[in-house]
Amino acid sequence: MEDMVKIYIAGKMYEVPASLTIMNAMEYAGYQHTRGCGCRAGFCGACATIYRIKGDTELKFCLACQTKVQENMYIASLPFFPTQKKGYEIEKIKPTETIMMELYPEIYSCIGCNACTKACPQGLNVMQYIAYAQRAEYEKCAEASFDCIACNMCASRCPAQITHSMVSLLARRLNGKYIQPHSDHVDVRVQEIINGEYNQLIETLANKPLEEIKELYNHRDIEK
Ligand code: FES
Repeated sequence: MEDMVKIYIAGKMYEVPASLTIMNAMEYAGYQHTRGCGCRAGFCGACATIYRIKGDTELKFCLACQTKVQENMYIASLPFFPTQKKGYEIEKIKPTETIMMELYPEIYSCIGCNACTKACPQGLNVMQYIAYAQRAEYEKCAEASFDCIACNMCASRCPAQITHSMVSLLARRLNGKYIQPHSDHVDVRVQEIINGEYNQLIETLANKPLEEIKELYNHRDIEK
């Protein structure tokens, strides 16, 4: 007989197999995900979830597709969080010292509480990358935020109302467009893709088992 645990979804108790992720446990309990579920593999950020273990003061943050259920887990999904996203044309802005102040001035109201970092299910040092953005160190900000999946749990905790994922997205765009050297061979490769030269290869790859795809990715050739 499989080990079972009691969990609470929206306050209602369910008994579910202990081996399941929160996402699968919700489905086991009868919930159908029409929101709050995407890649099921920890990449898309759609399944942001908040939980607390009964009797524990600490509120925890995780991805439902990556986190196993635990006994007495009280679960709330956060499939969407309203963010502050500024419109800009990357061609018309530059990585100046003032561009963050113009587009996201709230980053200068950071009080250093570090709640953003504690909420990040990717383990990113969110407060640090915001500090890089404040100092116009866009390359460092881009590097430190590279694994952000925009689940926005950091934003949900921020007393300064910062939308960290949008700030870091701007830094990565500025970094990619203006700071990193232009890569001519990427232009050539993009054109080859547009011409359909890789369609067959992509189809072959897409039909491989997930483990083999991971293996190929982990051992791919990386340009020095
Ligand atoms: S469903 Fe994509 S990160 Fe969980």
